[in-house]
Parts: sequence; C-alpha cells; structure tokens
Amino acid sequence: MQIQENISLKPYNSFAIDIKARSFASFGDIEELSELITPNSKLPTLILGGGSNILFTQDFNGLVLKNEIKGIVKIKEDDEFVYIQAGAGENWHQFVLYCIENEWAGVENLSLIPGCVGASPMQNIGAYGVEIKDVFHELKAFHKKEKTNYAFDLKACDFGYRESVFKRKYKDEFVITNVTFRLRKQPVFNTSYGALEQELEKMEVKELSIKSISDAVINIRSSKLPNPNEIGNAGSFFKNPEVSNEQFSILQKEFPSIVGYVLSNGNMKLAAGWLIEQCGWKGYRKGDAGCHAMQALVLVNYGNAKGEEIYNLSEEILQSVKEKFAVILEREVNII
Ligand code: FAD
Ligand code: EPU
Repeated sequence: MQIQENISLKPYNSFAIDIKARSFASFGDIEELSELITPNSKLPTLILGGGSNILFTQDFNGLVLKNEIKGIVKIKEDDEFVYIQAGAGENWHQFVLYCIENEWAGVENLSLIPGCVGASPMQNIGAYGVEIKDVFHELKAFHKKEKTNYAFDLKACDFGYRESVFKRKYKDEFVITNVTFRLRKQPVFNTSYGALEQELEKMEVKELSIKSISDAVINIRSSKLPNPNEIGNAGSFFKNPEVSNEQFSILQKEFPSIVGYVLSNGNMKLAAGWLIEQCGWKGYRKGDAGCHAMQALVLVNYGNAKGEEIYNLSEEILQSVKEKFAVILEREVNII
C-alpha cells in the first residue's frame, strides 16, 4: 500500500488523457482503504475502477484510490437462484465470463462492458435489453467520513436509466466494496434487442445458450465500438434523451426517420447517436478529438487530445443538437 506522488493517470483512464494526480494508491481490502482515507483532509479523494466512464479535464489535486478488492464467492443458493458476491475490483467482463462458465445466467447480455464490478451499480450499467438492476441483490459500501460499512438492497440503490443513489444523493460519499448478484440456474434468455436477434440469426445459432448470447453481444460490440486499447474513449458520451410523446410527434413530422422507442411511462427514448449523426458530427475530427465514425454517440481521443478538447467538442455537439431538435443531451461520462 504505497502512496505515489504526482503521477500520470494516462494508464488508468480509457480516454488515455494524460493528466496528473497529486497522490495515488491502490487498496486490496477495507482495512487498507480505511487507512488511506483521512476524513478531515481538505483534499478530495477519487475512487477509480477501470477508468472507463471518466473524462479528466484537469490535473486532480487530491488522492486517487484504485480499487483492487478481488474475490468471487457463492454466498447462498436456492432452487432457482445462486447468489454470487464479487469484489469491487474484479474486472467486469472476466466476471461475466466466469458466470457463463459456471452456467449462472443473467449477465450474458452485459458482456464486454469495460471497467470493474464496483462501478457497475454506479450508473446501473446496461446493454442489449438488460441492466444491472435486473440481477442485483445487494452491495456493501464503505462510508468515507464515518468509516463504517453499509449494505444497500435493490430499493436503497434507487436504480434508474444510467442512474443510482451513488451518482446523485450520495455522490462521493461511499466506496462500493462488493456487489452480490442473483443469477438464475435455469436461463431466461433476453434477445429482444433488435441488433442482438439479427446477430444470432447471422451466427446461425441452433440452440440458444448464455454463451451464444454473450458471443453475439461481443460480435456486435466489437464491430461498432472502438476498443479503448486502440482508440481512447469512454463508450456513449451522452445518455439517450427522453421526450414526451407529444414532442416526439412534432419531431417526427419534421424528421420522419427519427429513431425512438416507447418507454413504459408512455414517453419516448430518442437515439442520441441518430440526433448527433444528423447534425453532421459522425466521423468528425479536430486535432486528436473526434466523434467515432461507426457510432456517433462515442467521442474519441485519437492520441494526444486534452480532456478539455474532448469536453469542448461535447459542448459543440450538445449545442447543435439543441438548435436542430430542441432536445438537450445529458452527459453520461463523469467529468472530473
Ligand atoms: P470508473 O470509470 O473507474 O468510475 C466511474 C465512476 O464511478 C467514477 O465517478 C468513480 O469515482 C466511481 N466509482 C468507480 N468505482 C467505484 C467504487 N467501487 N465505489 C464508489 N465509486 C466508484 N456502460 C454501460 O452502462 N453500458 C455499456 O454498454 C457500456 N459500454 C462501454 C463501451 C466502451 C468501449 C467503454 C469504454 C465504456 C462503456 N461503458 C458502458 C461505460 C463504462 O464501461 C461503465 O460505466 C463501467 O461500469 C465503468 O466502470 P469503471 O470501473 O471503469 O468505472
Ligand atoms: N444510431 C444512429 N447513428 C449512430 C449511432 C446510432 O443513427 O451513429 C441509431 C441507430 O438507429 C441505432 C440506434 O441509434 O439503431 C441505437 O444504437 P445502438 O444500438 O448502437 O445503441 P445506443 O442507443 O447508441 C445504447 C447504450 C450503450 C449500449 C447499447 C446497446 C446509452 C447511452 N448507450 O447505445 O451503452 O451498449 O445501447 O444496448 O444508453 C454506454 O453506456 O457507454 C454504452 C455504450
């Protein structure tokens, strides 16, 4: 447990932004975490998992704590479910593959999402028709000021689309130390997402399994999302915005090909990627900051872009979408 001073965070964020942290340390358990946190310190702390949902726009004048809490254990089971607890520092995709190997069903649609288990409840990660909340049982979190441990059940997390209490009400208060998932012994397949159904057909899958769903998701993601090891990015930069049915009808009259999905509350979810593409940004590049050519919702760093340049590009995109569609995009990525 060594504290390093004035180090570059470039290897620790998937946008590969080269900024410096005043101090940096890793922790492998709650005791180490507790030792590293000084509640009365004036300097801020930042908990880091895989750094795949963060944009650093300036040096961080505080202590960055990298979560390395490991371990995956089955804590109980009944006829239908197994309850699997994973350390917050476990790699998310490796955890998904481990579940598939053990035939524990429920997380296969969430294959290949970068980052760590501990960040998965932060924004209730989701993809291809499934969100963390669908398989979530409980999490444990360490309160930074009180230095005590709390348990949060599904209700207490108050999950929404890319939302949880940890992003809003309790922002920066807790460190998630482990997460327990309720996974099925007998799979209930979810292939409702259009692109997933098409990919499974293309693969000519004869007998559906959690492994084939995972393979299909990996194929789709690899075909359109840039690999952060090759091109810096943090996945979708903005959330897909929600508009009223009325606003959607008005937009549809002017833009008949607009992409939207009906939500259970009657509102419509718009595809932000479509809005951004229509404003002409797809494939745009200024210096090393750009908008990905295969997925307009993903902003990229081609090499040496500064966080500020990526942020400024996001602001230009936001303004142009507002002007053309009167829709206000909200950033999904955490700006530091
Ligand atoms: P980090 O970026 O390290 O942290 C994110 C936030 O959570 C920060 O505010 C951090 O301080 C906080 N945090 C992290 N760990 C903890 C902890 N243990 N306790 C308290 N706070 C913590 N997301 C999706 O939902 N769906 C997708 O399909 C998806 N696809 C992606 C594809 C690509 C190519 C990329 C690069 C990203 C994608 N993402 C997606 C976003 C990202 O992978 C997820 O949000 C992921 O959960 C972030 O995990 P992380 O460990 O990298 O978090
Ligand atoms: N589209 C375009 N142009 C584009 C991109 C998308 O027109 O450049 C339209 C297409 O009509 C497409 C539709 O948008 O059919 C939806 O695109 P896609 O299936 O790629 O999904 P998305 O809405 O862009 C969301 C999530 C992703 C998640 C996928 C799959 C958000 C903000 N993003 O993207 O999550 O992987 O669905 O479920 O909800 C992330 O959060 O970082 C992320 C990558």
